[in-house]
Amino acid sequence: MAVQREDAGSWLHMLVLVYALSWAFSLGSVAGQTGQLNIDASPQNARKIPDKMFGIFFEEINHAGAGGLWAELVSNRGFEAGGPNTPSNIDPWLIIGNESSIIVGTDRTSYFERNPVALRMEVLCDSKGTNVCPSGGVGIYNPGYWGMNVERRKVYKVALHIRSLDAVSLTVSLASSNGLQKMASHTITGSKKQFAKWTKIEFHLKSNQNNANSRLQLTTSKSGVIWLDQVSVMPLDTYMGHGFRKDLASMLANLKPQFLKFPGGNYAMGNYLRNAFRWSETVGPWEERPGHFNDAWGYWTDDGLGFFEFLQLAEDLGALPVWVVNDGASQNEEVSTTTIASLVKDIVDGIEFARGGPESTWGSVRAAMGHPQPFNLNYVSIGNQECWMLYYRGNYQKFYSAIKAAYPDINVISSCDKSTISPSNPADLYDVHVYTSSSDMFSRTSMFDNTPRSGPKAIISEYAVTGNDAGKGTLVAALAEAAFLVGLERNSDVVEMASCAPLFVNDNDRRWSPDAIVFNSWQSYGCPNYWMLHFFKDSSGATLHPSNIQISGYNQLAASAITWQSSKDKSTYLKIKVVNFGNKAVNLSISVSGLNVGIKSSGSKKTVLTSSGPLDENSFQQPEKVAPLSSPMDNANQQMDVSLGAYSLTSFDLLLEQSKHSSS
Ligand code: AHR
Repeated sequence: MAVQREDAGSWLHMLVLVYALSWAFSLGSVAGQTGQLNIDASPQNARKIPDKMFGIFFEEINHAGAGGLWAELVSNRGFEAGGPNTPSNIDPWLIIGNESSIIVGTDRTSYFERNPVALRMEVLCDSKGTNVCPSGGVGIYNPGYWGMNVERRKVYKVALHIRSLDAVSLTVSLASSNGLQKMASHTITGSKKQFAKWTKIEFHLKSNQNNANSRLQLTTSKSGVIWLDQVSVMPLDTYMGHGFRKDLASMLANLKPQFLKFPGGNYAMGNYLRNAFRWSETVGPWEERPGHFNDAWGYWTDDGLGFFEFLQLAEDLGALPVWVVNDGASQNEEVSTTTIASLVKDIVDGIEFARGGPESTWGSVRAAMGHPQPFNLNYVSIGNQECWMLYYRGNYQKFYSAIKAAYPDINVISSCDKSTISPSNPADLYDVHVYTSSSDMFSRTSMFDNTPRSGPKAIISEYAVTGNDAGKGTLVAALAEAAFLVGLERNSDVVEMASCAPLFVNDNDRRWSPDAIVFNSWQSYGCPNYWMLHFFKDSSGATLHPSNIQISGYNQLAASAITWQSSKDKSTYLKIKVVNFGNKAVNLSISVSGLNVGIKSSGSKKTVLTSSGPLDENSFQQPEKVAPLSSPMDNANQQMDVSLGAYSLTSFDLLLEQSKHSSS
């Protein structure tokens, strides 16, 4: 028995040894790829990347704008969200008090023609008498978009419209979610005569506390009937003072976007045309905008973020606006070519709003909104992605002709692919949307390699990895998208512009995943693909150099090389980006030829985007779990041996010596 045990023991020992060896071997192979990356940085083989190559696409989806980038804190500020038939649903407004003290409803007595609904409060209780109001009074409150973020010492501009049958004493407060703590308040008082007609009241509230989940409440302890309408609370501290939430707009600015495509997406179309984005309904004084139901993504928007604001945002970001017009198509309907003329005129009017002189019909509306100078609108996309629809091509031609007749310099973008475009069906650019798995996205690094080099160029205005491995924004999805963008850089002779989609998600209303930026009322973070975009923010207008990778048995790398000049200090960098989409580390020898200046190791750096697992994501708890890390490069040179971690995106930013003859 002892011998048998001994035999069994050594057999087991052997097994363990073999297993350990094979494990060690497999680890060795995981760590042991070697390859060569050659870069030809000679000026004669370099090519300029288009100036507007990388931009952003903003869609009103996931409460990206209403309850997001647009800093308005009140939701359904005009009480229109419940529709024109009154009494209507006043959601998300709620009542303070019960039926014995207050009756709240809506009627159609608004001062504003285009948004007729107003709120009517019949206060039954009083400060004295038989029906005494509860302490704190009765009234209504608005929780904003999943809580209002109110910050200590910050100032909020409040505006509201009031009408009353009696004298008014109405307290407007920013309060905690249960109403018990007040961060700021102001009481509006006035005689019966003063409020007999609709009157606009404006004042500032300064908060004495931080509270990310606060509410606006309007309360009274005075019996009578009061109507309220167009109730707004805007923080004074917004991006460039133009009403954009500062943290979110700054995240966009940090990407240095060269263009801003807006407003959608399916949002531009609507599920039904009656709910599509209509630019003219979104301009002019905010109180006069009717707002509309965003049926594509299932929520109401007050249209605070309207056509003017999109153009303003583009200007503030230093980006060119790209306007996606509603071309008479929704998800379920289509205007036929014989009846499209009025929609065509509407779009030409919209361009006049953006570009016309302040004396023009629509330019004067823009000027009255505070922007007498025309906006730099040069790109108009005819529709979203409806080339397949019956009337698209016929309607497209009508839009194209009318726009070109009035504004020959405007670049008109077609939703059809390149093969459909011809002298008889012209387009300046054609729009491509790519939603796919990470492995397919990675393979699309070569998507445009064989595209004919003549004819209109592509704008890839929506691309994203979707599906299981995309999660809510994983590392591997970002890497696949990086490889795709590297391919677009290499093919930037046939691709003019690119932007990912969607850009934003309010974590309380996730209609689409993944998205580049996640936020709630007070926090925000970038997903791995947001950080990935930082690797491309210097590419627009940069100089592209041919590069090729040689590595055997490992088809998981994608690379590009550019030179670009910093506008800050005029330093020029050779930036080499390498995506390692596979699970193996790679030792890479990089060889740069053709440079007419030297590389300075001091000032050169390496930046890596990676994490411990390919499916890692960021979160409010760990907002920078997957974020770029930079380190100095001591070995920066024309010949360098570098290592690439598994599942990583690496940028080698090599500082070039100054020269008048630099290739950038
Ligand atoms: O980006 C989300 C949606 O995807 C867009 O609204 C639509 O254009 C595309 O199908």
